[in-house]
Amino acid sequence: MRTLSQTIALTAASLVAVFGLSGADGRLKFPADYREWVFLSSGVGMTYGPIGDAAHTGPPMFDNVFVNPASYRGFLKTGHWPDKTVFVLEVRGSESHGSINKDGHFQTGIMGIEVEVKDRSAKTGEWTFYGFGNPKNTATAVAEPIGRDAGCYSCHGRNAAVENTFVQFYPVLYDVARNKGTLKPGF
Ligand code: HEC
Repeated sequence: MRTLSQTIALTAASLVAVFGLSGADGRLKFPADYREWVFLSSGVGMTYGPIGDAAHTGPPMFDNVFVNPASYRGFLKTGHWPDKTVFVLEVRGSESHGSINKDGHFQTGIMGIEVEVKDRSAKTGEWTFYGFGNPKNTATAVAEPIGRDAGCYSCHGRNAAVENTFVQFYPVLYDVARNKGTLKPGF
């Protein structure tokens, strides 16, 4: 029979394998299968930071938000994000004149991919942001944590409805958080 500490060690090892969290140095492997995760919502023209600045000159960008499935299920039960939750924000360009479309906008190529991880064991803070750009080789891409003085931390920390995340823009989860009473005051 396994001791409790062996079980904990095994669980931690499998989380590292699943998410590529590398612990000590905080680097993150690209979550290459994120397109098989749970889709939370899309925003149009909501992109911030350096990618957003580029968008001002062209057609609006879409951003698609995904979360790892186990954490999604955890949130449905409690209205909180479990430890080791990983979010992917995939930013895509758009076009309006193509095929039969005349007035709407449809999504095109990837402009950038940003990731956010909740990890209680991280020494620098519970939530950490990563930027992957548009990785050429998604099987080998690795990112360094974005420094704590970056705008990611302050904007998310000040304006997000649940913990560090913009649940106010994810309709299904907004209702879950409201029912569970986990929205921050003011939402
Ligand atoms: C001015 C505010 C602001 C800044 C700065 C910002 N974000 Fe966000 N972020 C948002 C909003 C609003 C959303 C909701 C999704 C959307 O854009 O539609 C979001 C969503 C996300 C998500 C999806 C999970 C979540 O928290 O809801 C990730 C991942 C993310 N941002 C990463 C980043 C990274 C990395 C940076 C820094 C390079 C960054 N963001 C900077 C406002 C911001």
